[in-house]
Amino acid sequence: MAIIIDGKAVAQRVRESVKAQVEELKNKGISTTLAVIIVGDDGASRVYVNNKKKACAEVGIISEEYALPASTTQDELLCLIKMLNDRSDVNGILCQLPVPDHIDESAIINAISPAKDVDAFHRSNVGAIMLGDYSFLPCTPAGIMELIKQYDIDVKGKNCVIIGRSNIVGKPMAMLMLHSDATVTVCHSKTKNLKEIVKNADIVIAAVGRAKFVTADMIKEGAVVIDVGINRDENGKLCGDVDYENVMPLTSYITPVPGGVGPMTIATLMQNTVIASKLANAFFTENN
Ligand code: GUN
Repeated sequence: MAIIIDGKAVAQRVRESVKAQVEELKNKGISTTLAVIIVGDDGASRVYVNNKKKACAEVGIISEEYALPASTTQDELLCLIKMLNDRSDVNGILCQLPVPDHIDESAIINAISPAKDVDAFHRSNVGAIMLGDYSFLPCTPAGIMELIKQYDIDVKGKNCVIIGRSNIVGKPMAMLMLHSDATVTVCHSKTKNLKEIVKNADIVIAAVGRAKFVTADMIKEGAVVIDVGINRDENGKLCGDVDYENVMPLTSYITPVPGGVGPMTIATLMQNTVIASKLANAFFTENN
């Protein structure tokens, strides 16, 4: 019988812990602020940014939104980031991706001060994750690791297959699984024999961005299946990268969409923002 992983409940517990930490900082006279930049009018980005602001309000983090028009130049955006880097009262900065095509995404990511990079996308934070010596973890992979921990899922020595090699999910996920002693395989669009590789997995992490891409014939009986996708099916209904209905009965644990990985991403962002605040105020937090 599959256990359905309740991401909403775990995320709620993380948010409660963050709220207590924010309160503790407040009692020491330290406020916690997240600056959120959105460029252009991408509908999905607007929903994500609204959800991030709502989560901030819930846990007592101050959020500042910088909504810029699609015509914003790269220099204007870099100028804003510099101003936010220089402000000591801003602890975390994130620029919602994607940015318009005329802006170099990598230049933006790497302009954010690594100490305020709560997405953990900056090249120096990515390098720190490689080495297992980090302050911030990228929100979705860290959220998945927290779900695995909360459900006592054994990772050591297990075959973990990650489908998708994005900088945001696939690559850092592989590192975190490796740090947890899993044997990791990363599959992508050029992978040969995908079905056979996935069929051998004890843990499958699907981050492809294609509705119901992972089907029942690819899954080993008793596998753990983590679904990172948020897509619409042919009827416009929200669905993941996994054909949930048919895959679920084969699994030992599975994350639903919605209510699985999604809520954890934002909860981790809140946690990262508090970590940034604590690091910036280390003197006060350690000596008071
Ligand atoms: N776009 C899609 N996911 C993310 C994310 O986690 N952070 C940012 N900044 N942009 C995104």
